[in-house]
Amino acid sequence: MTELAKSFYLTTPIYYVNDAPHIGHAYTTTAGDVLTRWHRQRGESVWFLTGVDEHGTKVQRAAEAGGVEPQVWVDRLVSESWQPVLKTIDARNDDFIRTTESRHADRVQKFWDTVKANGYVFSAPYEGPYCVGCEEFKFAADLVEGTGEFAGEQVCSIHGKPPEQLSEENWFFQLSAFNDQLIKYYEENPNAVRPQSAYNEVMSFLRGGLVDISMSRSSVKWGIPLSWDKSQVVYVWFDALLNYITATGYGAEPGSKDAELFARVWPANVQLVGKDILRFHAVYWPAMLLAAGLQPPQQVFAHGWLLVGGEKMSKSKLTGISPELIVDHFGSDAFRYYFMRAIAFGHDGSFSWEDMSARYTSELANGLGNLASRATAMVGKYFEGKLPPDQAPGDKEIEIQQLLQTVVEQADSCIDELDFAGAIGQVREFIEHINGYVTEQEPWVLAKDESTIPRLATVLYTVCESLRAIAVLYNPVMPKAMQEMWQAIGAQEALGDLADQPLASCGTWGQLPAGVQVVKGASLFPRLAEPESD
Ligand code: ME8
Ligand code: MG
Repeated sequence: MTELAKSFYLTTPIYYVNDAPHIGHAYTTTAGDVLTRWHRQRGESVWFLTGVDEHGTKVQRAAEAGGVEPQVWVDRLVSESWQPVLKTIDARNDDFIRTTESRHADRVQKFWDTVKANGYVFSAPYEGPYCVGCEEFKFAADLVEGTGEFAGEQVCSIHGKPPEQLSEENWFFQLSAFNDQLIKYYEENPNAVRPQSAYNEVMSFLRGGLVDISMSRSSVKWGIPLSWDKSQVVYVWFDALLNYITATGYGAEPGSKDAELFARVWPANVQLVGKDILRFHAVYWPAMLLAAGLQPPQQVFAHGWLLVGGEKMSKSKLTGISPELIVDHFGSDAFRYYFMRAIAFGHDGSFSWEDMSARYTSELANGLGNLASRATAMVGKYFEGKLPPDQAPGDKEIEIQQLLQTVVEQADSCIDELDFAGAIGQVREFIEHINGYVTEQEPWVLAKDESTIPRLATVLYTVCESLRAIAVLYNPVMPKAMQEMWQAIGAQEALGDLADQPLASCGTWGQLPAGVQVVKGASLFPRLAEPESD
């Protein structure tokens, strides 16, 4: 039997289709896309899954309010908003899962049949608070003092509304059986929940003791029926979490393509979530997996929130900004760059139109864009568009070659920590250094004297070869602009596709051969159209 190489498997949450996406959802997907593109350039086999969560009370009520059947509601939102947003932000996911698909529903039933057969499912009444916004059974510790119209009441800390009181006869999942096992697992694998603040939160929740939890709902109709009790549907979270394995072939026919995929991807390498849904992913989800005899994910990473007025941007509160609005103005590359660069991954942050305009202009248009256009224009002007050979390298050039090595290594280790801002910061410093080098070397002066033409050749070679490396390093973040730059410096012809350039050899100097055709293309980061730009 041949051993299948393990793929780097990354997931995003599957988002509720109660409404259209906002930049908070696009944020997680963008981070996943940057990370998976980076791993692809490491030469790894990658599987990148995203999708939508279509069942439950919240979606059902949104459909009712919209005056249509839930299936009609979700079909419309998925095709008109959730799938198109992936194009808008230029995401290159391998699959898109919808929980109303039969491949999902069948395997969800199979999963719970297995857990029940393993003895972890029992019948009991549930009475207590439930937040429809979170689709979550709440504990007293999860609630806070309400304000405004809810002053004097206990409300959900995320949605600001009092939970509803539920009283149902349910099927329960014996979560408590996995308490010790999970504590031990996380003690032995401190990287399994990141960042540290998230790890601490999960450990303290586990040490507080787990209680058993409803895995079905009797008063909800919009869901997947239990195979053994058709009067109940699977609790929406215990349906949704399973997408990560149903979409990749859990429970498929042995020997089938799907079964092969599952063997290749599970356990997932990184499961990205917002910190709002950490407990589901780092407590309930691994417990479910253990109950079915499967391995927990290698890492759950909980990032921070995009805030509006100090609060989490949210569909329920109608504070969402649409990704299209920003992408129409700045382009998808700048969107991806900004959110990965301006907010430390793992921390909260706010989007500001002014901050984004300022960074676009200084870092992208004046920084990288200007460097690329100056270099390509000078090769055009002084060498008829043919990249000159590296004729007379000196100390400054050796310094750049060494700096590049360091930048590649450091950016790569930042990515291992999901420190996107750190990785981008490394490349930015390199760009600044090259911009400073051009200013200092004054190629326009070197061009005036026959005796300094060899130096001119070296300076322009050095800048173009640096742009070659920058294109490789920034490709996961800004694939469209970097493809243009790649073509402008003649790298496409000489070195092949940008996405195929291995990161491992990115720092190796001298890959761009002299003589390639360099063209000054259109501006990589054009001036912004509206008054915000100045
Ligand atoms: O929770 N800032 O779906 P959801 C940053 N269906 N990220 C944000 C954000 C914000 N303001 N708002 C949303 C659900 N997100 C469930 C998940 S998974 C098996 C089921 C992102 O539509 C972030 O990733 O409420 C957050 O965790 C997720 O969207 C929640 O999306
Ligand atoms: Mg939510």
